[in-house]
Amino acid sequence: MTEAPNPARMTPDPIAGLEGVVAATTHLSDVDGENGVLVLRGRRIEDLAGKMPFEAAVQHLWQDLEVSRAFSLQTDFARARRAAFAVVPILEKAAATLPVYEYMQLGLAALPMTDDIPEPIAISGALPVFLAAAYRISAGEKPIAPDLSVGSAADLLHMLTGEEPTKYFADALDRYLVTILDHGLNASTFTARVIGSTDAGLKQAVLGAMGALSGPLHGGAPGPVLDMIDAIGTPDAAAGWIDAALARKERLMGFGHRIYRTRDPRADVLKDGLRILGEENPKVGLAEDIEEAALVALKRAKPDRPLDTNVEFYTAVLLDAVGIDRTLFTPLFAVGRTPGWCAHVLEQQKYGRLIRPASQYVGPAPE
Ligand code: ACO
Repeated sequence: MTEAPNPARMTPDPIAGLEGVVAATTHLSDVDGENGVLVLRGRRIEDLAGKMPFEAAVQHLWQDLEVSRAFSLQTDFARARRAAFAVVPILEKAAATLPVYEYMQLGLAALPMTDDIPEPIAISGALPVFLAAAYRISAGEKPIAPDLSVGSAADLLHMLTGEEPTKYFADALDRYLVTILDHGLNASTFTARVIGSTDAGLKQAVLGAMGALSGPLHGGAPGPVLDMIDAIGTPDAAAGWIDAALARKERLMGFGHRIYRTRDPRADVLKDGLRILGEENPKVGLAEDIEEAALVALKRAKPDRPLDTNVEFYTAVLLDAVGIDRTLFTPLFAVGRTPGWCAHVLEQQKYGRLIRPASQYVGPAPE
């Protein structure tokens, strides 16, 4: 999951990456790549992240979907956590060597769907439980039962550590989860919509989307971002390290984006969160110096291609400052993005149309 992308596999063929192809109409989110603006159901990301808990942002995103009308998401996400915790013994029987991400997929696959909790809530609410339980099981520790009196972010931190988190840390995690809630037709959301269009269940769509998210070109980048920051070590070493990496044709993790031709607005939302955390954290200053050096080097190396900071760079720095282990960065991304995937699947299913594009055959003609 944290392997660097293989440049030999990259192809300049635009068809292979569907660049510029509009493949869905959506009321959920809009990514304006030229101007660096992200809108979720009519509100800019800056008006949501850091301004409300995760559940309230989900309620905002889901406002037109049947699921959120009759429910209080804070209460119902808590009920979903309790239901998920009943599945945790299955995780304890799995091989202790599984990565946390695969434990989460296993837990989700084993989660029974009942009439008590609507599927999007059951699935979205469950993942924090599986994440925390998997982390503790893989460390040889006992899973901690959810605390139903708090929100998903605070409870996730509590289930990881067994301690009540500070308000600052819980707010920072809420900010992160809201920041990544939805983002147009990214690779994992497209995957979810394709699976949803076959009328496969919501759980299948989320499991498939999790697979798409795990790659280093998508949700697998923030762990390697932190590895890069650690490898650089000091501000003085940044420029030399980065130039050497670019000379080896490596990609700098946390930079570049398929849609943004300017700064990813989510990077600044998370950077603001670091300021609010107000910690005397030397890694934050180092990260800012590395970012500055990377932007200079990328501009020099790729003058024709605007490459700027993406969400993953400050994801790594923020989650690290909250004390979250880097192996949990991609699992946490899945926690935050799951309500977005669910909403897209439900939206796609309203059209009742199977997604089935065409391919262009360039193989040999039959003899
Ligand atoms: N570092 C160095 N060079 C880069 C980077 C980077 N981070 N990103 C793109 N480039 C270069 C490419 O090597 C390519 O150069 P070339 O034309 O000489 O071959 C050129 O810029 C264009 O790259 P593309 O592959 O066409 O850009 P694409 O739109 O496919 O890239 C991507 C988007 C995959 C995110 C890319 O920028 C990347 O690999 N970034 C690093 C990984 C990363 O941070 N991923 C998280 C993205 S955010 C998210 O998914 C939530």
